[in-house]
Amino acid sequence: MKRVVLGVSGSVAAYRAADLARDLMRAGCEVRVCLTDAAQEFVRPALFEALTGQPCLIDTFEEPERGRMAHIDWARQADLLLVAPASANTLAKIAEGRGDDMLSTLALAYEGPLLIAPAMNPAMYLHPATQAHLKTLQERGAWMVEPAEGDVACGENGQGKLASNARIVEESLAALADRTRLEGKHVVITSGPTQEAIDDVRFLSNRSSGKMGAAVAQVALSLGAKVTVISGPTSVPLPRLANVVRVTSALEMRDAALTAAKDADWVIGVAAVADYRPANPVRGKMRRGEGNLQIELTPNPDIIAEVASANPQARVIAFAAEPSDDLQAAREKMRRKGVHAIAVNDVSRAEIGFESGENELTLLRADGEPSSSGRRSKLGCARWLWDALLG
Ligand SMILES: Cc1cc2nc3c(=O)[nH]c(=O)nc-3n(C[C@H](O)[C@H](O)[C@H](O)COP(=O)(O)O)c2cc1C
Repeated sequence: MKRVVLGVSGSVAAYRAADLARDLMRAGCEVRVCLTDAAQEFVRPALFEALTGQPCLIDTFEEPERGRMAHIDWARQADLLLVAPASANTLAKIAEGRGDDMLSTLALAYEGPLLIAPAMNPAMYLHPATQAHLKTLQERGAWMVEPAEGDVACGENGQGKLASNARIVEESLAALADRTRLEGKHVVITSGPTQEAIDDVRFLSNRSSGKMGAAVAQVALSLGAKVTVISGPTSVPLPRLANVVRVTSALEMRDAALTAAKDADWVIGVAAVADYRPANPVRGKMRRGEGNLQIELTPNPDIIAEVASANPQARVIAFAAEPSDDLQAAREKMRRKGVHAIAVNDVSRAEIGFESGENELTLLRADGEPSSSGRRSKLGCARWLWDALLG
C-alpha cells in the first residue's frame, strides 16, 4: 500500500482535504495528515484522525512516537507528499527551504515526489512572488495540480480555486505510478567533463558542467531506479541517493563505467569525455620556454561504445554535443558507437547547453523518427528524455 502524507495548509479549501483524504484511501493509499497552525483555524486534527485512523502531525516538537523524530520518520516512509490545499505562504516556505513548522520541516527532510495543489485568491496566485516560487518548485521536480478558474471564497473571480479532488487523486496516482517505472533497474550515468593531465598542475578539459547528468540521475531516482553516477570533476551537487563514483580522466571513467555497467539495465553517457589526452604527461611542472610548444595527443577510448559492446543486455544511450542542428553527424555517431539512441544538443546556441540551466534535446533512435524536447530546464529535458525512452 502506498503511503501519502497529505499536508493541509491555511486555506478555506482545507475543508475539502477531509474528502480528499477519503478519496485517496478509496484509491488504495494509506493517508497521514499534517496540518499547519493556520489550517487548524479551518479544520481540526480529530477530523482527520477519525477519517484516516492515523495520528495527525501538527507540531514539530510533539511526536506521536516518543523518541522518534516524526518529521524524519514520516518523510522516509512516505511515497508521496501531497500539499493540498497549498497556501501561498506554505508553498513559499517549501520553495525557500524554510522549516519553521511541522509541514515545512517534513518537506525539507523529504526526498520523494512532491505534488502541490495551490488554492488562494487569484491576485495571490498571480503575484510574481507566488509564480516564482511555483517555478522554483517545478524546476526542482515538483508536480503541480493547477488551481481552477471561477468564483473563489472571497467573492472574487479568477484562477485560484483548489483543483477538483478527482484531478488531485488522478495526479497523485500518476506520481505514485511514476515511482515504479524504473523499479528494480540499475541505471548507470556518466556525467561531467574529464580532465586529461598535461603535467601535474595543468590539464585539458571542456565546458561541461555536469548539470545535465545530475538531472538525468535525479529523474531516474524519482522513477524508482538504483542509480550509479560516474562523475568527472564538477561542483554540481549530485542526488544524495545516487551511488557516486568520482573520476578525473577518461581512462578512469572508462574503467569505472565498465565495472558499473556489468549489471546495468540502462547506461546513459551524458559525460563530455575528452576525445584526446596528452600522450606523455610530464611529471612535476613543465617550465616555460622560448618558441612554440607542441603537445602530442593520443585518442581516448570511446567509452560508451565499449560499454555497449561489453553489455549487450543494457539499453545504452549516448549524448552528443553538436555545434549545429545537422543531425547527420549524430546519426553516424549512433551507428559507430552501437547505441540504441543518441540525444543531441546544439552547443552553438549560447542560451542552451554546457553551463546553462536550460537545454534542448533531439532524440535520435536506431529504430524511429527523431523527436525534440523543445527548450526546457535541464530537469525538464531529463524528464522528457526518460518519458521518450520508456515510451
Ligand atoms: C478566512 C481566510 C481564508 C484564507 N484563505 C487562504 C487561501 O485560500 N490561500 C492562501 O494562500 N491563504 C489564505 N489565507 C491566508 C493564510 O491562512 C495565511 O497566509 C496563513 O499564514 C497561511 O499559513 P500556512 O501556510 O502555515 O497554513 C486565508 C486567511 C483567512 C483568514
